[in-house]
Amino acid sequence: MRIAILKETRDGETRVAASPETIKKISAAGHQVVIETGAGAGAASPDHMFVEAGAEIAADAKSALKGAELVLKVRRPTEAELKLVPKGAGVVAFWTPYGDKALIEAAAKAGVVALSMEFTPRITRAQAMDALSSQANLAGYRAVIEGAALYGRGFPMMMTAAGTVAAAKCFVMGAGVAGLQAIATARRLGAIVTATDVRPAAKEQVASLGAKFIAVEDEEFKAAETAAGYAKPMSAEYQAKQAALVADHIAKQDVVITTALIPGRPAPVLVTPEMVAKMKPGSVIVDLAVEQGGNCPLSKPDQLVVTDNGVTIAGFANLPGRLAADASALYAKNLLNLLPLLTDGDGKAFGPHYDDDIIQGMLLTRDGAVVHPSLTTA
Ligand code: NAI
Repeated sequence: MRIAILKETRDGETRVAASPETIKKISAAGHQVVIETGAGAGAASPDHMFVEAGAEIAADAKSALKGAELVLKVRRPTEAELKLVPKGAGVVAFWTPYGDKALIEAAAKAGVVALSMEFTPRITRAQAMDALSSQANLAGYRAVIEGAALYGRGFPMMMTAAGTVAAAKCFVMGAGVAGLQAIATARRLGAIVTATDVRPAAKEQVASLGAKFIAVEDEEFKAAETAAGYAKPMSAEYQAKQAALVADHIAKQDVVITTALIPGRPAPVLVTPEMVAKMKPGSVIVDLAVEQGGNCPLSKPDQLVVTDNGVTIAGFANLPGRLAADASALYAKNLLNLLPLLTDGDGKAFGPHYDDDIIQGMLLTRDGAVVHPSLTTA
């Protein structure tokens, strides 16, 4: 099968959907891999490393896509790229399926088989293909590193001859994949860490990392997790109770990392402007949910907002892209693990296993139509 890997063009994306390690394995399996020149430049993988691993380099997207049966990308293709994808080919990417429905309809019309990495089912068999997790884990780590860099004091307690530096107080809101890694990272740096979530399962996970769990644990909390493991949107009453609990706590924090998301919906507002107004000068908020509207309404994508009371609010839109080499290597591995489900019986040609739960979960378009239930029943 001919597999094309493009240079990412959206929003200064630094990642690439391949690593020299995965290209070596894909080539060894008998596939022909064509990579657009410079695709790995932002991820410490120059063209020659891909060539040594067995790939061909194409001068541009058009020649990379010529005759391709499968296209591997990080971000959803642009309209211009989509026009170059051969009819019947598969395109695997983060399609942001709720973000650009017109593009998904265009993919269907073009006869493209679109598979969304966001919709990889959260089942044990799919863990090695779960790119939301591989990327969120790195984002959680990087959020703390960025927060520590912006915070004008130290994270660990330091007792020196000139006096004592107090340990930073770090509060992680949303203890999913990113949040748990943020807790672990802040702990390693020596901060005093607390965390909150609406899913009861998070309580034990937070405690096992040595952080204190803070949440409104009422009846609604006990039922807040969906069968898929995600959070449900909480009622206005719950949100009010949660805000009252958080307001006092947040005023004493130095670094706040927010990661709360609900699939297919705007991010819940957890840190209101009133709460920010009560925070200490020099404290920092890193809002990982900024692309979904933000957990703090004051955060802006890729901007540092400094409030009148001296709080810095950072809304990094693509934190995994700030660790592009690792993020690309893990993402590429997720794709490599998916490949057997995308090849026919002989493992030679493009042939998605349409009856497999994982492919069914990820499939957005097929045979000229949008087929994913969450997009067809709106
Ligand atoms: P996510 O990115 O959708 O959300 C992040 C966190 O925000 C979640 O923990 C969620 O409960 C929390 N949240 C949502 N609304 C909130 C609110 N109002 N206040 C406070 N927190 C709020 O979730 P993520 O990180 O993708 O993980 C979701 C679940 O899936 C987790 O339980 C995770 O452990 C599980 N998972 C399971 C896998 C498997 O293969 N079995 C693989 C990966 C994750």
